[in-house]
Amino acid sequence: MEQQKRYGHFDDQHREYVITDPQTPWPWINYLGNEDFFSLISNTAGGYSFYKDAKFRRITRYRYNNVPMDNGGRYFYIKDGDTVWNPGWKPCKTPLDFYECRHGMSYTRVTGRKNGVEASVLFFVPLKKWAEVQKLTLTNQSNEVKNLKLFSFEEWCLWNAATDMENFQRNFSTGEVEIEGSTIYHKTEYRERRNHYAFYHVNTPIQGFDTDRETFVGLYNEFADPQVVIEGKPRNSHAHGWSPIASHYIEVTLQPGESKDFVFLLGYIENEQDKKFSAPQVINKDKAHALIAELDTTQKVDQAFAELCQYWDALLNIYNVRTGNDKLDRMVNIWNQYQCMVTFNFSRSASFFESGIGRGMGFRDSNQDLVGFVHQIPSRARQRIIDIASTQFPDGGCYHQYQPLTKRGNNDIGGGFNDDPCWLIFGTVAYIKETGDFSILDEMVPFDNQPGSEVTLFEHLKISMDHVINNLGPHMLPLIGRADWNDCLNLNCFSWDPNESFQTTENVSEGTKAESLMIAGLFVVTGKDYVALCQKLGKTQEAERMQKAIDAMIEAVKKHGWDGEWYLRAYDFYGNKIGSNECEEAKIFIESQGWCTMAEIGAQEGMVAKSLDSCKKYLECEHGMVLNNPAFTKYIYEYGEISSYPEGYKENAGIFCHNNPWVIIGECLAGRGNDAWSHYAKILPSYVEEKYQTLHKVEPYVNCQMVAGKDAFKPGEGKNSWLTGTAAWMWYTVSEFILGIKPDYDGIRIDPCLPQTATDYTVQRKFRDAEYEITIHPNGAQKGVKAITLDGQPVDGTVIPYSAGKHVVEVTM
Ligand code: BGC
Ligand code: NOJ
Repeated sequence: MEQQKRYGHFDDQHREYVITDPQTPWPWINYLGNEDFFSLISNTAGGYSFYKDAKFRRITRYRYNNVPMDNGGRYFYIKDGDTVWNPGWKPCKTPLDFYECRHGMSYTRVTGRKNGVEASVLFFVPLKKWAEVQKLTLTNQSNEVKNLKLFSFEEWCLWNAATDMENFQRNFSTGEVEIEGSTIYHKTEYRERRNHYAFYHVNTPIQGFDTDRETFVGLYNEFADPQVVIEGKPRNSHAHGWSPIASHYIEVTLQPGESKDFVFLLGYIENEQDKKFSAPQVINKDKAHALIAELDTTQKVDQAFAELCQYWDALLNIYNVRTGNDKLDRMVNIWNQYQCMVTFNFSRSASFFESGIGRGMGFRDSNQDLVGFVHQIPSRARQRIIDIASTQFPDGGCYHQYQPLTKRGNNDIGGGFNDDPCWLIFGTVAYIKETGDFSILDEMVPFDNQPGSEVTLFEHLKISMDHVINNLGPHMLPLIGRADWNDCLNLNCFSWDPNESFQTTENVSEGTKAESLMIAGLFVVTGKDYVALCQKLGKTQEAERMQKAIDAMIEAVKKHGWDGEWYLRAYDFYGNKIGSNECEEAKIFIESQGWCTMAEIGAQEGMVAKSLDSCKKYLECEHGMVLNNPAFTKYIYEYGEISSYPEGYKENAGIFCHNNPWVIIGECLAGRGNDAWSHYAKILPSYVEEKYQTLHKVEPYVNCQMVAGKDAFKPGEGKNSWLTGTAAWMWYTVSEFILGIKPDYDGIRIDPCLPQTATDYTVQRKFRDAEYEITIHPNGAQKGVKAITLDGQPVDGTVIPYSAGKHVVEVTM
């Protein structure tokens, strides 16, 4: 294979990805913040910050899909004589003598060197603080005294990221700032209904500032050559309307070998209604002063950083594997878990592919994200489940999305995605198995956030199951509604109007007959979980009632959902088969193969094995399994968005990494460890890191939603990195099904499914108040646990019974 250019490498010891060339094939980003205050940061320090909600509380401005790419961010301009440069290379793009970006666990460190000066910036959001710290260290590595001019830069967003980009007739007149010492305050709309403001501070006296963009940059200049920086002189501009910014000016003298730290702080404050102002028109800055005081020295900031690192140490010590295979270990122990936290926090809202404006938290997405995250911070998972369930309707249907700030269902998109309810069971069961906390089922949870409508969470689970049963079609299979997991299979949409949304349009609302085999499989899988839960709770009648429904569904799939070599995908509105050998294109789809094999429907009749073989035969390619095959080559009015994509992209035969794990779990349940592993390794970032440095384009340390499939113009090219259900599914697959450590109500079930080549490995697993050290001896077996000992004593079956304390477990396969 041709030697590819490399842009970076893993540093496992520090849990970092080290980028050594700023001109990555696409901005390679990281996320800062863990709870309320968040930032996106690229390898050149581009990106933006927001509080809780990337749409409604955007703090700094960002321009998407820009020319040049990734413009806007937190920039430090260093003027050394006539040379102006940035530590992260952009925006000036002055060639650097050294460049490095280290993306770590919720922090990023960008270092640049030019003409004997090193500038290193550590970016992070301290735990529990509503602020981004930017600790800049300037070091004179030369033999002469350096007199530097330092300009900081942030551009304020006028809060609502959507209107900020469109309502200029208003926006250009509303911008307001205040300046006090070394702090620049952004207070647009504070005079009316906003009780929040932002500030940008530096912990040293400044020699000047600018707050008006046009003054700082110059109308005909760019971020690459702001006029104030070029002139080397701030203008102390005070923004009134137009575009407020924040720029500090600091003169720095460094002796040879001398180093100086500057702590910049981008903060967000909320005030009580009656304490908004300290004088007419003057914002009450008490809370800002207090926040600044907590982070105004290098020592305090270093302490906060150490706490952040300890926090991540603790999180990543809950599940830790040692296989001796670095590529696997680093994904399992570091990056996959990290990506799970990020998807849990952001759902699908804000990335370099999601604007943060279009989408809030997805009902199905957030439930799936739970399985990747619940072991990390169960209390947050618990709250999330309640928040999600509170957006459900009394008939079990649900809002497809909600806004994190208000936690209200999103009316623009509404409901009608008939897979949504089942995911609530999926998420809740994962939570209870991890924690043993059955009390969550007794929580009183409203419908559509309406006070007075509360029923128990258990009741929500029940109506979720019932929603499927109450919405069966002519083949007794689940009606698909607007769409199931595949948002683009819009079988009741029928649109010739490009101004209509595929997701929300139903042009034929009467007698919608389209049915989904994906939901059928999902119903059986989550139904089995529901039945087991009922049995656990002593609700025998309910368990029996649901078991009957599951049995009926299994029969319906066997009778109407099998195509001979694989499971059908759906029946369209007219009752025609989708995903059948009879079809001209898209004869086979991955989703129903995944879910029906996970549900083990027709295993005895050989259906599961045949379906899995068909996935290998028709869907698999060099880069993973495609969603459907062959790709659609034309738009099909009856199918909707799926056929709108060119061949090989997105839902039209792209490799949707999200659903590859479904088939992999199907393989694991069937005991086919070699096949499971080979599918898994194809989409495991560290396995394809080298090959993909340029072809793949997007970050080599996380999964992306889609890799272009075999029918695409450029197979193997990745898109939509970070915010994808792939994170949780990859985690669930490797931790529970491949490595085989599966939380259960009464303990941990051990049932690995491995490639024959696997050697002994050890998993360190914290579980409730216990800590297990589990060593597995595969002995060449792909599946099948022969013997388990717990602290030296033999255990019956495959579940290690839970008890607090430290335990040693040996497993022989
Ligand atoms: C995309 C889907 C996505 C949906 C969300 C579609 O355009 O292809 O992946 O889930 O939009 O609305
Ligand atoms: C992305 C969405 O976030 C997810 O909910 C959906 O299932 C997939 N796209 C497939 O369409």
